[in-house]
Amino acid sequence: MATAAEEAAGSSGLRIIGTGSALPERVLGNADLERMVETSDDWITTRTGIKTRRIAGPGEETSQLAAAAARRALEQAGVAAAELDLIVVGTITPEMTMPSCACLVQQELGANRAFAFDLNAACSGFLYGLDLADKYIRCDPGKKILVIGAETLSSRVDWQDRNTCVLFGDGAGACVVTGSSAKDGRGYQAARLFADGSLWELLYLEAAPKHNRQLRPNRVEMPCIMMQGREVFRHAVRAMGEAVAQVLAAAGCTAAQLKLVIPHQANIRIIRSLGDHLGLAPEKVYVNVDKYGNTSAATIPIALDEANRAGLLAPGDLVLLCAFGGGFTWGASLLRW
Ligand code: ACO
Repeated sequence: MATAAEEAAGSSGLRIIGTGSALPERVLGNADLERMVETSDDWITTRTGIKTRRIAGPGEETSQLAAAAARRALEQAGVAAAELDLIVVGTITPEMTMPSCACLVQQELGANRAFAFDLNAACSGFLYGLDLADKYIRCDPGKKILVIGAETLSSRVDWQDRNTCVLFGDGAGACVVTGSSAKDGRGYQAARLFADGSLWELLYLEAAPKHNRQLRPNRVEMPCIMMQGREVFRHAVRAMGEAVAQVLAAAGCTAAQLKLVIPHQANIRIIRSLGDHLGLAPEKVYVNVDKYGNTSAATIPIALDEANRAGLLAPGDLVLLCAFGGGFTWGASLLRW
């Protein structure tokens, strides 16, 4: 987070100079799910707002989707991979524990100068990564950093559990960031990030089981996402509302000044509650949960890329990002585009 002194001085930290996203080709619709579990398009649509989600296939591993999103962001920024100083990937579904997804992305891109690591903050991973990048950039505004959110949640969903399997999807989004001139006031304005580990049991994904060939010869099944949906819903609405209020207060802004809010895309009812709480017209709150479902750390950068490429953001516009996810982790960031 920006220090109080930096926020007061209007120092703008990082600025996003390129966005990109990548989604798997395969589309899984609600009608497909009706054939897999006891559910209906009507239930899924009214409870979640989700119509379709994307499912990764061969050649669409987390790092491959991340690298594809990154290439688009680099191209838009006019930055070569070799110029990157750091790659941060927010993910809870890397294909390997070691090396990190970020190292695989570094290798795919040929970003030889960059150091690289993953960050696990579930659905808040992209916001945490952006804040970290902002801190590096405040030390050296010349740095060029790739911040990515990428997931293949379909690999860690129980496709027989209707409570969770209708909610999640796969995808990746990326941003290239660098230092902004403090004079024009554009860039990172303020952020507030939080965590509460005491509530972890409401939403969790166990680590892959350790497999010792001698002691545990049988193949162990991969654990899947477990969630108490109603409780998560309640906490998400309250926590995101509070984070947004704090970040607006820190930046000395009102909700009415926001051009666009890009919330984590988990459920249309959570998104609408947030919009109502802020008194915002629906068109000021970006929604694509209908197309992609919940892609955890990837929802915000995918949505940001869509909004950017659709021309919804002009220089100087205030954009608010907010997220809530497993941990619990949550937060909000404010950018002047
Ligand atoms: N189709 C049909 N019926 C279903 C389905 C389904 N897919 N899933 C659950 N039901 C049933 C339940 O079994 C229950 O039946 P019962 O009353 O006979 O027991 C009934 O529908 C109601 O279930 P609830 O869980 O109370 O439904 P709710 O209105 O809370 O909606 C939902 C469930 C959509 C999961 C909602 O609670 C939600 O979106 N929660 C938040 C999820 C979220 O935000 N996650 C974000 C973080 S994810 C991350 O960090 C990776």
